[in-house]
Amino acid sequence: FPLSLFIALNMASILQKLITPLFSGTPEPPRNKVTVVGVGQVGMACAVSILLRELADELALVDVMEDKLKGEMMDLQHGSLFLKTPKIVAGKDYSVTANSRIVVVTAGVRQQEGESRLNLVQRNVNIFKHIIPQIIKHSPNCIIIVVSNPVDVLTYVTWKLSGLPKHRVIGSGTNLDSARFRYLMADKLGIHATSFNGWILGEHGDTSVPVWSGANVAGVNLQTLNPDIGTDADQENWKETHKQVVDSAYEVIKLKGYTNWAIGLSVADLTESLIRNMNRIHPVSTMVKGMYGIDDEVYLSLPCVLNAGGVASVVNMTLTDDEIGQIKQSADTLWGIQKDLTDV
Ligand SMILES: NC(=O)c1ccc[n+]([C@@H]2O[C@H](COP(=O)([O-])OP(=O)(O)OC[C@H]3O[C@@H](n4cnc5c(N)ncnc54)[C@H](O)[C@@H]3O)[C@@H](O)[C@H]2O)c1
Repeated sequence: FPLSLFIALNMASILQKLITPLFSGTPEPPRNKVTVVGVGQVGMACAVSILLRELADELALVDVMEDKLKGEMMDLQHGSLFLKTPKIVAGKDYSVTANSRIVVVTAGVRQQEGESRLNLVQRNVNIFKHIIPQIIKHSPNCIIIVVSNPVDVLTYVTWKLSGLPKHRVIGSGTNLDSARFRYLMADKLGIHATSFNGWILGEHGDTSVPVWSGANVAGVNLQTLNPDIGTDADQENWKETHKQVVDSAYEVIKLKGYTNWAIGLSVADLTESLIRNMNRIHPVSTMVKGMYGIDDEVYLSLPCVLNAGGVASVVNMTLTDDEIGQIKQSADTLWGIQKDLTDV
């Protein structure tokens, strides 16, 4: 045993003694990297839900608040023993997001007292003008899921600012509204939320459109059991359930200050369909020009087939004239806001 080798071995670090590298090339790039922009209540709920669903091999977090960002990163890293995402990174600089497959945007400002909706939109547009080009610079092939509100307008803004094809820019849209609806309806019927099939389409929030004509349980259309369902004439007042959906965000915000868990879980569900190339159908915000007689470039929610390429297709749902009218009205409202935005 040569003395020089004996000395060399003794001087080597634990790492050198323990590990014998088989190649010295550059590390493999991530295959399923997810970035979350904005580590507020919603961003962190999305991040944790995505981690627990084991969807990402790398998670990147970005925010402008550096201490909060570092704290959130460290806290998640300390949970690594219980996770299957081996790399969690964070930074103010978008280089940490490089090679992302999916980017979830939750950054934004909230409405201030007395501030008009349009003014809020314009302030968020100004924030997005910084964020979106940085995302594209480092991940030109990503799919962007927009969550920040007003989500439909900001998804349109993201599409414009990113230069991405429309199928790679998705708004979380009425995915959350539909989840709330399915939970509330199912609860009233004594069944699990997955077993109540119902869709809320159109604009996320106050003017969302419940598709009563398609609500069913195990293929039994509820409108055949109660032709008045969802109308003012309905003795059972099922319409109230949609009102509860619309009011629920305000109610939760009043009670706990913000909403985060349900939106986080719902974004993880969308992420799963994209990452796992599932061709599952979700009500998400997509570019609807040319559909249902809509002439303007607006994003609003329709049933979309999601796979690894983004929105693969849109299901032409059979809607009543009234439902189509409500969706068109949403489109007009959104265009009314979008046409006055500057620098998009
Ligand atoms: N689409 C939905 O269904 C849905 C549901 C709930 C909330 N939201 C929306 O999600 C957004 C976030 O809500 P929240 O409760 O997490 O708010 P929050 O204030 O807790 O977090 C917002 C985060 O964005 C960050 N931010 C601001 N400007 C930034 C920039 N330029 N770059 C990077 N980060 C930036 C802030 O520092 C903050 O950490 C809001 O617009 C809210 O209305 C949407």
